[in-house]
Amino acid sequence: MKTGKPSGFYFIETFGCQMNVYDSEVLAGYLENMGYLPTTKEEKSDILLLNTCAVRQKAEDKIFSRLGRLRSLKNTKPDLIIILWGCVAQQKHVAPKIRERFGFVDLVAGPHALKRFPKLLEKARLASHTIVDTEEKGSREDTPVKRMHGIKAWVPISHGCNNYCTYCIVPFVRGPEKSRHPQNIIREVEELIKTGYREITLLGQNVNSYGKDLERKIDFADLLQTLDRLAGLVHLRYMTSHPRDFNEKIIRVIREGEKICEHFHLPFQSGSNKILKLMNRGYTREYYLELMTKIKKLIPVNALTTDIIVGFPGEEKKDFEETLDIVEKVRFDAAFTFVYSPRQGTRAVNMKNHVTPAIKKKRIMLLNEIQNKISLEKNQELLGTKQIVLVEGRSKTDTNTYTARTRTNKIVHFSSAKDLLGKLITVEIIEAKPWTLLGRYT
Ligand code: SAH
Ligand code: SF4
Ligand code: F3S
Repeated sequence: MKTGKPSGFYFIETFGCQMNVYDSEVLAGYLENMGYLPTTKEEKSDILLLNTCAVRQKAEDKIFSRLGRLRSLKNTKPDLIIILWGCVAQQKHVAPKIRERFGFVDLVAGPHALKRFPKLLEKARLASHTIVDTEEKGSREDTPVKRMHGIKAWVPISHGCNNYCTYCIVPFVRGPEKSRHPQNIIREVEELIKTGYREITLLGQNVNSYGKDLERKIDFADLLQTLDRLAGLVHLRYMTSHPRDFNEKIIRVIREGEKICEHFHLPFQSGSNKILKLMNRGYTREYYLELMTKIKKLIPVNALTTDIIVGFPGEEKKDFEETLDIVEKVRFDAAFTFVYSPRQGTRAVNMKNHVTPAIKKKRIMLLNEIQNKISLEKNQELLGTKQIVLVEGRSKTDTNTYTARTRTNKIVHFSSAKDLLGKLITVEIIEAKPWTLLGRYT
């Protein structure tokens, strides 16, 4: 141990979306700058950080039961610093609950505190009580970042969300939408390419509204086009899109682009106009279906994925059937399906006619059954075809087993004795499952 300098091991567990994964990379960056080393064993750690997600009640409950289990670890290791970070920590009702029931937690801080992390850690180390930072502002520029992956990197282009979908906690915990300056994004992507990264994913809660809050006139399509032209990049991806802001200009830039992948993740949430209105989504089922038709027409080789919520307040049998109708009409490659979960502070909580758990369960099971069948059928269409894939990972237990991805974001596993990490290669698809493909490389 170096004298005068804190050092030891840190353990970070990340829940939730890609933005949280990125935030954990920043927190790890700070810790490594301070001389800490990563560990995957929580008993070995000196700093234990849970980066939390509040999007559904289940995700939040998981955190509290996790904290309950940490009590005994803290008893045996009193110097261990326990940190509750992220979207759960940001919610107003959480810090008082922590102080009352989990007083052994050293620090509670939300995503806005990212840049204040080193100072907060220092404070938490010295204090005998829980330090709390839920202030709703803070810069996110010029932070260190410890990238967890060697081939793919994530680059935030905006933070927060202004949409206030009535079920969603994100605008409350991440604040209003704030776009990063294009120069900072471009510089970061250029540096990543220089370091050897092959795939970049642009991150934001609603990437399509990028630039609306900037003085300079730039929109998402312009940004994509600029980044697409950077030499050395292989794949350019982005998430998440909002159907309302996904305009024809973006589709055309993707079509003309060389590196922008033909994977469209466009959450439709519900197929019923009545429910879409109650959700405050800002589009109709007709608009969504037309958008899908437009994409399919302009970019015939594509993959379409979506998010769907079942059991939103007021959802009747006929509304749910309209959701199924969209699933059957569009034939998505994959769908992330969720049971509506009431979130404290959102508008939907106070809406009438909440759906019973039994009906929610019945509906999600039926939806999943239909979607899984479609996903498998879509993957089976690729059997026997040759696909160009970017090799992004290697199995830890069997170094001959690789994971690769098509431009359409399909995961392909294959074997080879050659060193192929980071290479763009062609594989033949020999087996199809609903979520993955098996390939042969010769
Ligand atoms: N900003 C992204 C992701 C938001 S969270 C977007 O707008 O698409 C990811 C998904 O979680 C959402 O698309 C939605 O389908 C689901 N979700 C959000 N809040 C939810 C809630 N209260 N209950 C159930 N699912 C929810
Ligand atoms: Fe939540 Fe809607 Fe914003 Fe997505 S667009 S983060 S679902 S409020
Ligand atoms: Fe969850 Fe926060 Fe992301 S609530 S989905 S981790 S923005």
